[in-house]
Amino acid sequence: MFKRVLLNSYVMSRRSTRVIKPRIKEILSETLPSGLVDKLPKRWVQIGDVLILPLREELLPYKYEIAKVYAEVLEVKTVLRKGWILGEFREPHYEIIYGHDPITIHKENGILYKLDASRIMFSPANVKERVRMASIAKPNELVVDMFAGIGHLSLPIAKHCKAKVIAIEKSPYTFRFLVENIELNRVQDRMTAYNIDNREFKGENIADRILMGYVISTHEFIPKALEIAKDEAVIHYHNTVPERLMPKEPFATFQKTAREHGYEVELLEEHVIKRYAPGVWHVVLDLRVFKK
Ligand SMILES: C[S@@+](CC[C@H](N)C(=O)[O-])C[C@H]1O[C@@H](n2cnc3c(N)ncnc32)[C@H](O)[C@@H]1O
Repeated sequence: MFKRVLLNSYVMSRRSTRVIKPRIKEILSETLPSGLVDKLPKRWVQIGDVLILPLREELLPYKYEIAKVYAEVLEVKTVLRKGWILGEFREPHYEIIYGHDPITIHKENGILYKLDASRIMFSPANVKERVRMASIAKPNELVVDMFAGIGHLSLPIAKHCKAKVIAIEKSPYTFRFLVENIELNRVQDRMTAYNIDNREFKGENIADRILMGYVISTHEFIPKALEIAKDEAVIHYHNTVPERLMPKEPFATFQKTAREHGYEVELLEEHVIKRYAPGVWHVVLDLRVFKK
């Protein structure tokens, strides 16, 4: 029922890993004890010219030497050690293990995303969703992005669909990049940003389309989304859902809340975005909501 859009290709550098991995191994075999060479990361994420490297516990005593070799072979300016993404702002906690500048500009699908890769989430597994957004709206629509981040999902709408976008981002640090990205992508004439909690947003009955690109507690924001929605609107509702509750959830919860607020819901499409944790999936539902 859910369409799977898991991607692997993005995780690797574009250059052939057939050449890169043996080269990295060869150089590091001069420094590392022989048993550790096979435990070197085989996958990594590159955002602009910053590399995010997952390192196993036993490699940590050599983290700076390892990072230097990956940086030189892959030609990046900074290497981060992958850690956890935590809290309300979904902020990564990634340690800088090579270089000193985690701020980069990542180009994807004609969009420039400037961000601090050590403190702002930019998931390679969400690339299909970002690309999908680039053709989802019509130019006459008003789109409200309730969890804008740096404009992950709404920059493609403003840039490629030419729709009007209101982007709401609560974190002051992330908001700075959102504002910069609006300028970098030259969409100031149709994209407006607010540095507030979306629950404080005053617009009512205004949006043709709403983006709810958030996880874990997105259901708590359904009443606010319905307040912002026109009498008929489309909502892209993301959430994390345990596999044992799929495919009934997360639609059932959305529908129950919508009915309590006088809306009916039609399920248009559903997609799996990525595995979030063992037995838990990040999914997105495209929902048409309309007043009963
Ligand atoms: C996980 S990021 C996702 C960004 C983008 N929507 C996507 O799907 O790729 C969620 C963003 O929502 C912001 N956020 C969290 N709670 C918020 C709230 N109540 N109001 C506005 N922004 C919020 C966080 O700071 C973070 O930048």
